[in-house]
Amino acid sequence: MKVSVKVPATSANLGPGFDCLGLALPIYNTITIEETVLPGTGIEINMMSEDEVIDEMSFDDIPRDENNIVYKAVEMLYNSIGQEPSELKINIQSQIPITRGLGSSAAVVVGGLLAANKLLGSPADETALLSIATEVEGHPDNVAPAILGGFVLASQEDDGSIICRKLNWPDEWDITVCIPDFELSTNIARSVLPQSVPMQDAVFNSKHLAMLIHAVDTKDEKLMKAALQDKLHQPYREKLVPGMKEIMEAFKHEDGVLGCVLSGAGPAMLVISHKYDLDKIKSTVKEIWEGQSIKVEIKTLKIEPKGAEIIE
Ligand code: HSE
Repeated sequence: MKVSVKVPATSANLGPGFDCLGLALPIYNTITIEETVLPGTGIEINMMSEDEVIDEMSFDDIPRDENNIVYKAVEMLYNSIGQEPSELKINIQSQIPITRGLGSSAAVVVGGLLAANKLLGSPADETALLSIATEVEGHPDNVAPAILGGFVLASQEDDGSIICRKLNWPDEWDITVCIPDFELSTNIARSVLPQSVPMQDAVFNSKHLAMLIHAVDTKDEKLMKAALQDKLHQPYREKLVPGMKEIMEAFKHEDGVLGCVLSGAGPAMLVISHKYDLDKIKSTVKEIWEGQSIKVEIKTLKIEPKGAEIIE
């Protein structure tokens, strides 16, 4: 038996929502899991990319054995019902660029879990799958929108439980995704964050996150523009993303641009706008990054309302 799951890309944080906000985007990975009948064939993991930006080298770095994160997630699911995974063939067809801050690892984890759950006769509900996916990823802000679609607020509580709500995102707001041609692993992007932050920075983020939730709910663009700021992760990651500061600065005072943020742990960036000249966004970002010899792929997208789905 074989099951395929299509999972959207995601962008986490949205400025002040570090580790708790994320949205789904219409770029997809398809994960297929097949339980092979032949004993002794072990695990087989194949990856195929449909995106030119993906450097084949980054594919080579991905483990193809029990250390692969898809396999780990699937193993946790089997173990949670007292079973061990049998011989598995895992195929990943990838459109989501790797290590760019667009939730490629969350997508494969979620896809693997949903496919394996179906193969097992659906013993785990959405909450249990979200919980395993968060344990593998370390934070819920990519896996939650990958499962639910849309714009999601998700928190891993101190006891490990996940609280998660889907929120409305104004359809008319454009999301321009700017993907530079260099990689930044989440581990490195998290290693530059401090263990503790000044009280005023924590207060700054809680104020701006509250503003953001209200701005999105009421489509208040002026409030959104004030809200899309952060002091918990972006300032520390600036040194890892050449051009990031200049790109943010370039859109600060543009009417119609609601904000510019790092996508997840970066290096991709999102520009959120309404009725703004999208070509101008592209040319501004291109000029800054290409001026530093960094190639960039830019797409303007609408939010993906649907989460992961079983397609066969
Ligand atoms: N919230 C996570 C981070 C997202 O910023 O490290 C990683 O994709």
